[in-house]
Amino acid sequence: MTGASRGLGRAIAATALARGDRVCLVARDKGIVEAASALGQDAIGVAADVTREEDIRRACAAAAEQWGGIDILVNNAGLHRGGRVDSLDLDDWEQSLATNLGGPMKTVRNALPFMGEGGAIINIGAVVGFRGFPGDSCYGASKAGLAGLTQVLAVELARQGIRVNLVVPGFVSTEMTQGLSERAKSAIIAKIPLRRMGDAEEIADVCWWVAGSTYMTGSVIMTDGGLMCSL
Ligand SMILES: NC(=O)c1ccc[n+]([C@@H]2O[C@H](COP(=O)([O-])OP(=O)(O)OC[C@H]3O[C@@H](n4cnc5c(N)ncnc54)[C@H](OP(=O)(O)O)[C@@H]3O)[C@@H](O)[C@H]2O)c1
Repeated sequence: MTGASRGLGRAIAATALARGDRVCLVARDKGIVEAASALGQDAIGVAADVTREEDIRRACAAAAEQWGGIDILVNNAGLHRGGRVDSLDLDDWEQSLATNLGGPMKTVRNALPFMGEGGAIINIGAVVGFRGFPGDSCYGASKAGLAGLTQVLAVELARQGIRVNLVVPGFVSTEMTQGLSERAKSAIIAKIPLRRMGDAEEIADVCWWVAGSTYMTGSVIMTDGGLMCSL
């Protein structure tokens, strides 16, 4: 479970733990180790950066050593960087792709040796990966790439009995969206048919049942209050 130190990742980990799963929480923040141990004996924490393959190899090995393998991988770690294409900072472009797209690819290939028949991979996409939001070229390109990667992996890994799906949250209240002005938030909420932001727990619940849905692979599961329908 990557990006588990806060926001959606924290909620997905908490939901899985509450429903009886054992979870390895991964994030860069070294506090993840202590935070996980406070969650009880079914959780461990590993400080790792998903852009660094050696880190992610260590995290996957730690999870497998602790629990005897990896059944479910959730690629949730992500960052948002804005900027119109004519003025965007190239470091932001590279960092976005390295984290939101390169991170899941590296995590999948390091988790695979520990996964087997019945395994499930959940990638966390974004509406921005399917629609053109001005100023979101870095984020949109990285999340569109993740949608493509999900489809390739669904086909490649089917023969190993591993399913791969993309859960697409809409507009959820977390640190990532906290920085937006009230005006910007209201403008987005006005486009959401359900007229509200989502709760992290609502996304976590969807991730949990997608992980257990044995005839679902290569799917895009919109969890966005209807946002994409209205764009
Ligand atoms: N919030 C929304 O409205 C929304 C909508 C659509 C999609 N999403 C997606 O949902 C996911 C979670 O977003 P969020 O809203 O929960 O964001 P958040 O509150 O900013 O949390 C991001 C998480 O990712 C971790 N992370 C970032 N870079 C990392 C790296 N290089 N290596 C390891 N961990 C890293 C962070 O931990 P550290 O800083 O400790 O590493 C943190 O735990 C992201 O993929 C995001 O794109 C969010």
